[in-house]
Amino acid sequence: MNKLIVGNWKMNGTLELVDEFLEGLNNNVIVGLPIIFIAYAKSKNPNFQIAAQDCSIFNDFGAHTGEVSAKMLSESGCKYVIIGHSERRKTFDSDSISNILKKLQNAVLNGMTAILCVDEKYDELLDSQTVEFLKNHKSQVVLAYEPLSAIGTGIVPSISEISDVLKNLKSKYFGIRTIYGGSVNSKNAKEILDIDSVDGVLIGGASLKLDEINAIAKFA
Ligand code: PGA
Repeated sequence: MNKLIVGNWKMNGTLELVDEFLEGLNNNVIVGLPIIFIAYAKSKNPNFQIAAQDCSIFNDFGAHTGEVSAKMLSESGCKYVIIGHSERRKTFDSDSISNILKKLQNAVLNGMTAILCVDEKYDELLDSQTVEFLKNHKSQVVLAYEPLSAIGTGIVPSISEISDVLKNLKSKYFGIRTIYGGSVNSKNAKEILDIDSVDGVLIGGASLKLDEINAIAKFA
């Protein structure tokens, strides 16, 4: 299976940048766009691969101001949704462990692949119900290991550390797909993507530069 290259724009980007990516992005890259750009990008290029950065705990229409359901994201053409990013977990009570499970369920129910982010404390973040869910929906879930010490810092763990943690996650959680995130760029991506237990990378800062992400995509 090809390695996953997933960008996470976070709350960055402009319509001009979306246009630049629509023109020139390598087609094996999945872009985690802010919600506001998703329908626009899809209408311009139906083949553009998009991840949402979150979805609601609610699945049905209702009085949930500000929320966007997994169903809406799926209908807008998202095939992937990032869930439980550490920046959300630390900021929003709504990203509690029990709510993350609801988000996972909604993503999978609506035919998307959930990219579930965990950090060094993955044992605490993956409670027994979540683990049971992962076990039963392995093909629609990807576990993204993003150490807090590596996100946005330029400090990447050693290759042997990344290899060991992802190998451990994979064997503990039924051979689930495991990707690495945290300060990935075009200089370190090859070494990281060459690791057997690494099924892909989740890229923040470097995913906002077309040349960078295209250079990383070549190593997949
Ligand atoms: P970074 O972010 O690549 O800028 O470190 C990764 C992430 O937060 O997913």
